[in-house]
Amino acid sequence: MKKIIIAIDGHSSCGKSTMAKQLAKEIGYVYVDTGAMYRAVTLYAMRHGFYPDEGIKEAELKAAIDAGNIQISFKFNPETGRPDTYLNGEKVEDEIRQMDVSNRVSPIAALPFVRALLTEQQQAMGKEKGIVMDGRDIGTAVFPQAEMKVFVTATARVRAQRRFDELMGKAKTQEEKDALNFEEILKNVEERDYIDSHREVAPLRQAEDAIVLDNSELTREEQSAWLLERYKEIVQC
Ligand code: DC
Repeated sequence: MKKIIIAIDGHSSCGKSTMAKQLAKEIGYVYVDTGAMYRAVTLYAMRHGFYPDEGIKEAELKAAIDAGNIQISFKFNPETGRPDTYLNGEKVEDEIRQMDVSNRVSPIAALPFVRALLTEQQQAMGKEKGIVMDGRDIGTAVFPQAEMKVFVTATARVRAQRRFDELMGKAKTQEEKDALNFEEILKNVEERDYIDSHREVAPLRQAEDAIVLDNSELTREEQSAWLLERYKEIVQC
């Protein structure tokens, strides 16, 4: 069967990665979470003091990128059945999902030199096709020629609730659970929507030829079945 590129874009916390991952598994494709790449760059900037409260030290971050000091890779984890994100050889899958990174990632993702670096790496990953990539600009900027494009959305409240439940499930202690605040998560979701859709370079928008999926009312199983059907329709053409 012919191999294609599948681009899945949409708002934050709308379940894109869950459905993209599931589809990749079902059809034997490689799955790439591009949000994880922006998160890894953010973690690097935070760890190196390039992201103080006053704002990002762009010149320092750009110098680190130009010097090749930020290497991001993925390694499949057979225990979880999904790829883990590595920053310069260190597994950072848990760190990049924390709220402090979530709160800072959108301004990093708006920097043109960060986007240029990651877009190039993402295009290289899709050279052989057979890839499911999720993000914000995959169908518009990274692979405008992708054979299958899906734009996923759901209301901000539904997305914040999903994020809250996910973080609650991951929290190891009562203290971590008590620290979670739904309103704060909702604010973060809304702020990221705004920054992601209003930045100058590759803003989040629906590609004209994308199929739209509002999954506010769908279960995971229903979404997965819907996505698999669309894939079958496209490869059979
Ligand atoms: O999907 P996510 O929430 O892990 O993404 C983290 C941030 O990275 C989000 O604010 C948008 C940004 N992002 C982007 O600008 N372009 C992508 N292709 C993927 C993510």
